[in-house]
Amino acid sequence: MTLIEWKDDYKTGVASVDHEHQELVGLINRLYGKIGTGSEDDVAAILGEIHDAISSHFALEEKKMSDSGYEDYWPHKEDHEHLLDDIREIMDNHAEGRYASYEQELAKHLDHWFSEHFRTMDRKLHGQIG
Ligand SMILES: [Fe+2]
Ligand SMILES: [Fe+2]
Repeated sequence: MTLIEWKDDYKTGVASVDHEHQELVGLINRLYGKIGTGSEDDVAAILGEIHDAISSHFALEEKKMSDSGYEDYWPHKEDHEHLLDDIREIMDNHAEGRYASYEQELAKHLDHWFSEHFRTMDRKLHGQIG
């Protein structure tokens, strides 16, 4: 089951970044595929993987921005923090057994969030500093 179809629109112009973004999309699609069919442990494991992969991806982007003195460092970082907070909240809810249809919401939320972030902030960032 696929939630996010990769679009050319998401390309940043930097192959290694696009590759990482595609991996993140793959993880979100895996999560989506497990919703309603996988065990709670499966879902928790994928949520953990998503959190770790996104955290390290964001850390690299933030280092790149800070090393190059990128002008939009703060708004970009704020967007990253916002998504990480959302994912942590979902993981907590899941761990406490409060999930049900909330996971569908999460998957859609991630789709929307990522699509927007790739197309706007990441595209601008990587277009400017590589
Ligand atoms: Fe990114
Ligand atoms: Fe980013």
